Formats: sequence, C-alpha cells, structure tokens
Amino acid sequence: MQITIALTKGRILKETLPLLAAAGLEPQEDISKSRKLIFPTNRPDVRLLILRGVDVPTYVQHGAADMGVAGKDTLLEHGSDDLYEPLDLGIARCQLMTAGVKGAELPRGRIRVATKFVHSAKRYYAARGRQADIIKLYGAMELAPLMDLADEIVDIVDTGNTLKANGLEAREVIAPISSRLIVNKASMKMKYQPISALIDKLAAAVATD
Ligand code: PRP
Repeated sequence: MQITIALTKGRILKETLPLLAAAGLEPQEDISKSRKLIFPTNRPDVRLLILRGVDVPTYVQHGAADMGVAGKDTLLEHGSDDLYEPLDLGIARCQLMTAGVKGAELPRGRIRVATKFVHSAKRYYAARGRQADIIKLYGAMELAPLMDLADEIVDIVDTGNTLKANGLEAREVIAPISSRLIVNKASMKMKYQPISALIDKLAAAVATD
C-alpha cells in the first residue's frame, strides 16, 4: 500500500526531515536542491510531495496525499475539520498575532486590518465584537500600517524582529502556532496499519527531540 506524505519547502521541511529520519524515512535525494515535486524514499511504499504550504491541507483533505505536515496557521485558515490532526510536531513554533504602529491607538468604530490570514482575522475580531474590514494581502503585511492602508495587521511573529525593524509592536496573541501532522480520514481507515505505525514512530521522535 502506497503512502503519500505532503510537505512544504523551507523551515517546515528542514525541521520535519530529522523527525522523518528518526521514524526511518529518508528521501533518496536532497529535496532542497531539486526542482522535482515527487520524491521517493528509502521505503518503496512511501513517497513525499513538495507543495506550497497552503495547499497541503487541500491535498490531504481530498486524499491526493494520505498525510501531510502543515503549520497550525495554515490549518486555522483552511478551516475544514474534515482532517485528522493526530500529532503536534512541536516544530516551526511561532505565534499568530495582531500588531500595529508602536504607540498608536486604534480608532473607535470600524478598523481596517491587513492580513493574509483572512478567516482567522475575521473570526478573531468577530469574537471580540470588533467591526473589522479585512484587507487581503499576500506578504509584507508590516508595510500596511506604515502606509496607512490598515490600522492593524494579523501576522506570524517569531522573534519579533520584523515588527521591530518596521516600528511596529505586537499586540494580542490570536493562537500559538506549530507544525501539525495531518491525515486524510479515509486513508486512516483504509491504510490504518502503516499510517498508525508511522504516527507512533513520529510521536516517539517528537518526544525525544
Ligand atoms: C513571517 C511573517 C513575518 C516574519 C516574522 O514571514 O510574515 O514577516 O516571518 O518573523 P520574526 O518575528 O522572526 O521577524 P516568513 O518569513 O515566514 O515569510 P512569509 O511572508 O512568506 O510568511
């Protein structure tokens, strides 16, 4: 039975590969140096897919991949509970936060919020009874308050250096973020033995990490 695992390049891949290795899984070539998107591993029944992070939950939800690794920020934004999330890998830790210009007060009434995390932002402000017009951006969110495109942003904060370098301050934590293992529901049933064995090995690797 073939098992397909969806991953994404960058920090998540870098921190996931040692966990996969500890679970006995190694790609047969250096993924970071290749333009390929499908990678065989040392196990003939397991292959890896390299996707954009936001696409990982989509592949797994539809069963185009059996399992995947995605940031909790991406999963919150994806919004579907039609996936299993059996394991917090404890990697790529950061926080989803609101931020704004240092010292600037929020206007009364409606505020403008720039973010690529549109659904998470909507839910957050709605839960606090705050009227917010959400402005979708795809990157460099820090620029929006500086150019008066927005009163606040919702973004990932890790060290806080990007905010600081742009004269912004972190405000409220919306959610603590780390990478999660996700599993397609039908795959979990139909490939229960190999998938649950892999989850157990990964859980052991996380515990000793
Ligand atoms: C994230 C985020 C911030 C930065 C925060 O961007 O959007 O810009 O990291 O990190 P810091 O608190 O350590 O400065 P990332 O580099 O992940 O790229 P992205 O814009 O593609 O999300």
